[in-house]
Amino acid sequence: MNKKLKPDWAGEDMLSQFVNLLIQTKPIYKVMKHQARQVIIKTAEKNGVPWRKNYEKLAASPVQHHFDAVTNPQVTYPDYYKVPFHAYSEGNLCWKAALEAPSATYSMALRVWKNEPLTWQAAHDRLRGSFHNVLGLYAPQKVEDILDVGCSVGISTLALHRYYQNKQNHPVRTVGLDLSPYMLAVAKILDINNEISQWLHAQAENTGLADKSFDLVTLQFLTHELPSEASKAIFRETYRLLRPGGAIAIVDNNPKSAVIQNLPPVLFTLMKSTEPWSDEYYTFNIEAVLEDIGFEAALTVESDPRHRTIVAKKPL
Ligand SMILES: C[S@@+](CC[C@H](N)C(=O)[O-])C[C@H]1O[C@@H](n2cnc3c(N)ncnc32)[C@H](O)[C@@H]1O
Repeated sequence: MNKKLKPDWAGEDMLSQFVNLLIQTKPIYKVMKHQARQVIIKTAEKNGVPWRKNYEKLAASPVQHHFDAVTNPQVTYPDYYKVPFHAYSEGNLCWKAALEAPSATYSMALRVWKNEPLTWQAAHDRLRGSFHNVLGLYAPQKVEDILDVGCSVGISTLALHRYYQNKQNHPVRTVGLDLSPYMLAVAKILDINNEISQWLHAQAENTGLADKSFDLVTLQFLTHELPSEASKAIFRETYRLLRPGGAIAIVDNNPKSAVIQNLPPVLFTLMKSTEPWSDEYYTFNIEAVLEDIGFEAALTVESDPRHRTIVAKKPL
């Protein structure tokens, strides 16, 4: 039985502090950043994700037109968002990050089952399916309005929308929200059939959406990119947006996962070098904070070998 609550390489532990020291050393960080990127690209290309072709195809699309249409000039960017992420010095606020995001998403799914001979499509279906299965069991049975917060290029949003659209015999309205207009512009391109009602450029902490207007709000692989205070503010905003009986569902890295706790030093150092809020994320008690805000007791399921899904309902 695995009793550790989090990996030793995150938080206040000596190992964690040593890794941080390494990352803060500029020449080492530069090498780490490059290597982290290579791991993702190699995983993708070895498994048939055409990284360069996907990039070029999107770059040649009318993505700039969608950028202009989706951008809300009133939106401001918090400091925690403007730091380098995922080996991009401008984080999520640049074209390179957005045009590579679909391939990076498929690569991330492949790494969950990296010892199994899965195609990238099968790995991705399994990743989303494991989350949807938990929703099927523990989220409200009738869902009409869905908000996917931190939707990035909309791959999570489209999969979620289709899951509910196929499961229920009534229409579902789904909104994808992100702080990066670059990501949203790509989402608009990938949403070929206009299945999603709105791609919304906003801060998840302050969406401007109406009170009690959603049955389900999802945060898929968002919280590990946030300092704890930002996550708390987003949970509070989510509570406001949900109807009584509605649910928040969060899927992200599982601090208790044996795979994550036992990552080889090279891999956890690479991971920390591109995920600036890892220490806060791995020591943050999400379930306790949700309850403090007013949600019913949260339910946590190990939805795949690396990730956990947390579902909590707003009381009726
Ligand atoms: C790892 S990506 C999410 C991936 C996507 N949900 C999926 O499952 O494929 C995290 C996204 O959260 C967005 N994000 C980070 N902080 C945010 C905030 N405060 N408000 C809205 N979006 C935010 C980033 O721009 C980025 O696109």
